[in-house]
Amino acid sequence: MKEILEKLEDKREQARTGGGQKRIDAQHARGKLTARERIDLLLDAESFEEYDMFVEHRCADFGMDEQKFAGDGVVTGSGTINGRLVYVYSQDFTVFGGSLSATHAQKIIKVMDMAMKVGAPLIGMNDSGGARIQEGVAALGGYGDVFQKNVLASGVVPQISMIMGPCAGGAVYSPAMTDFIFMVEDSSYMFVTGPDVVKTVTNEVVTQEELGGASTHTTRSGVADKSFANDVEALVQMRRFFDFLPLNNREKAPARPTFDKPVRSENSLDTVIPSNPNKPYDMHEVINKLVDEGDFFELQPRHAGNILIGMARMDGETVGIVANQPMVLAGCLDIDSSKKAARFVRFCDCFNIPIITLVDVPGFLPGTAQEYGGIIKHGAKLLFAYGEATVPKITVITRKAYGGAYDVMASKHLRGDLNYAWPTAEIAVMGAKGAVEILYRKEKDDTDKIAKRTKDYEDLFANPFVAAQRGFIDDVIMPRNTRARIVRGLKKLANKDLENPWKKHDNIPL
Ligand code: HXC
Repeated sequence: MKEILEKLEDKREQARTGGGQKRIDAQHARGKLTARERIDLLLDAESFEEYDMFVEHRCADFGMDEQKFAGDGVVTGSGTINGRLVYVYSQDFTVFGGSLSATHAQKIIKVMDMAMKVGAPLIGMNDSGGARIQEGVAALGGYGDVFQKNVLASGVVPQISMIMGPCAGGAVYSPAMTDFIFMVEDSSYMFVTGPDVVKTVTNEVVTQEELGGASTHTTRSGVADKSFANDVEALVQMRRFFDFLPLNNREKAPARPTFDKPVRSENSLDTVIPSNPNKPYDMHEVINKLVDEGDFFELQPRHAGNILIGMARMDGETVGIVANQPMVLAGCLDIDSSKKAARFVRFCDCFNIPIITLVDVPGFLPGTAQEYGGIIKHGAKLLFAYGEATVPKITVITRKAYGGAYDVMASKHLRGDLNYAWPTAEIAVMGAKGAVEILYRKEKDDTDKIAKRTKDYEDLFANPFVAAQRGFIDDVIMPRNTRARIVRGLKKLANKDLENPWKKHDNIPL
């Protein structure tokens, strides 16, 4: 009996060494942790329960029958993060470069199935050379099966991808279908085809970092939601992020007790808006002063900076924040910011997270680049996302809310539940200057007349009261009371019950 037990321990020990010490050392030399070390850091101590530790690939070509590693390049199982259940997979680069075989795919699918069955999020730690070349089409099939599962799990349980090494070819498309992508700087890459193929096909010479490093995907492409300096920081921050999320689409996010008073009056907000309406101010400051303990987990901070998105809490309850940022492009909506915010709004709506929208928007960004790039369709994404969302929606207009962008930003017309404005709000079709130029074109050379017309327009529209008279704004509130009003509003809306008409699914303008 003892011998049998020891045999099991030996087998486990062997599986834990993955592709062997030499490859583990190489992984460490690159500044990367191993698959198991990552799981250890991500999950609560002693909580990890591994599945399929003894699974081996079934490929016999290219001498593969002579090379078998227990676990086949991916460690899978479940555990807890701050006591809450999560399913994980962590690709082991020391085994065939973490490449995906048919059995490797089956292991991932098994934890995805479990996650969906019990209603727990899935976190994937990706570090893979893509499809296992020796397996050919069997590996492609494996990817296809994972993709299909990603689609079915979307909107059922949160799916989060951590990119912690190369991610080439098919390896990028599973993460792309998950809710969030976090990358590690200088050691992770995502591209459909690598630099060599790019050179052959387009003659472009580009490094891995330029093509698909964290810097590229957190700034230019917006594919990744955030990046971190190293594996350890990424995993620690993932634990923090996880705490904001509900386990599945039927549950609410966990409340976290806070020492921050729900009715805290924030006097400094009364003076945050500059007297010159064209002067920017940092919307981060407003957010930090409103949310519990100034704790704002910003997503995509370096992409489309004209809109801010992220998670925070109000009196302990998770909320999604969407806010125009006057510091970048005057806070206007453009293609990138619309796409960025639309996907986030949809995530919040899938997972019962109320949305707080802070509005200071001068309109959509004009120009051929935007029109040729399809701003009509992309801007409509955000409009659509807000319009379909049934979670509690509280909107505060701090300053400008002009034109179509006024409608888009969770207005009353898109079923905003509570729409507040600060006394500094200006709700109009457009700014005074633009309006006067159009209405009084014939008087354009008479500066006195134009100045008077502009002043008249401002007096009439550069305030929240015209909208308030119509009930488009529920109340004009003192900035300092904003936190108290939002917290109170959220409590009232906690049991909000609103359903969209039955449909198979909607057809958001993609
Ligand atoms: C099998 C692989 C592999 C793969 C790497 N390895 N990728 N084995 N299939 N796809 C193995 C290597 O042979 C090596 O084995 C070990 O992993 C480490 O690889 P290195 O090349 O030594 O490491 P490094 O220099 O860090 O380069 C990592 C890499 C490179 C950038 C990922 O290995 C690479 O370019 N791999 C191929 C990427 C690729 O083209 N994949 C297919 C994509 S197509 P030893 O034994 O020496 O340790 C695809 C289609 C799916 O995914 C489409 C679905 C829709």
